[in-house]
Amino acid sequence: MAPIELYRDSNHACLMFTDLIEEDGQAIQANQFLIVDGDTGAVIDPGGNLAFNELFMGMGRYFSPQKLSYVIASHADPDIIASLDRWLTSTNATLVISRIWERFAPHFTKAGKTENRVIGVPDSGGHLPLGRHELVLLPAHFMHSEGNFHFYDPVSRILFTGDLGVSLTTGAEARVPVTDLAAHIPRMEGFHRRYMVSNKILRLWVRMARQLDIAMLVPQHGAPILGKPAINAFFDWLENLPCGIDLFDERAYQIPTGHIDPVTRQMRAPLRPAQAA
Ligand SMILES: [Fe+2]
Ligand SMILES: [Fe+2]
Repeated sequence: MAPIELYRDSNHACLMFTDLIEEDGQAIQANQFLIVDGDTGAVIDPGGNLAFNELFMGMGRYFSPQKLSYVIASHADPDIIASLDRWLTSTNATLVISRIWERFAPHFTKAGKTENRVIGVPDSGGHLPLGRHELVLLPAHFMHSEGNFHFYDPVSRILFTGDLGVSLTTGAEARVPVTDLAAHIPRMEGFHRRYMVSNKILRLWVRMARQLDIAMLVPQHGAPILGKPAINAFFDWLENLPCGIDLFDERAYQIPTGHIDPVTRQMRAPLRPAQAA
């Protein structure tokens, strides 16, 4: 399917690819993004090798690969940046990633590929020029990654939130923006409870994000959240969501008693005490 135009004017476009990964259930559905500004652009969270070819060809419809300014990574997970070697080989783009991952990213590439081609973003974030405009790199640390950024595009007023706001869907479902948050929460809740680090972090982030004028909030998995009512409801939900270390206590840190069966690849039922003896 063609990418979705989240935004377009005569000079600027934001495109979302939702279905570049085969839906056989092995790899999580993921979105990749292309921002075009004039004759240049950036890819955001381009993902792994599963998505590279189609995203690269899709980009070629807007500008030549030599004009790509940046490969921007919210963090260093495989579904974010595992295709880094191919992007650095096929374009002249600079990698933009948290300073704390700057020296980890080269493990995705052949030796020397990243030399003089990485912008290590400090924890405070910053404004990054792109064509005639800019992107704002917003601190989003611990949501979930320790060095993590979100990307605000002032032209489209889209906030790209990486693994925050994620819902577990198919590529087709990810194409339909959500305007009724209450109905959407069941598809987000389990993920956020386990992958987000703590409610304290969510609250600090919401306090910052409420200051932005956001038309659409677009995560890296699942559907965008569209319009002020749904975005405000999302902020309210996050502020009251216990997650991560809020939910972990000593019960989560016990010497394991279960056994993994390598044939079924499942946990074996625990042995009864008599058998265990
Ligand atoms: Fe991640
Ligand atoms: Fe992700």
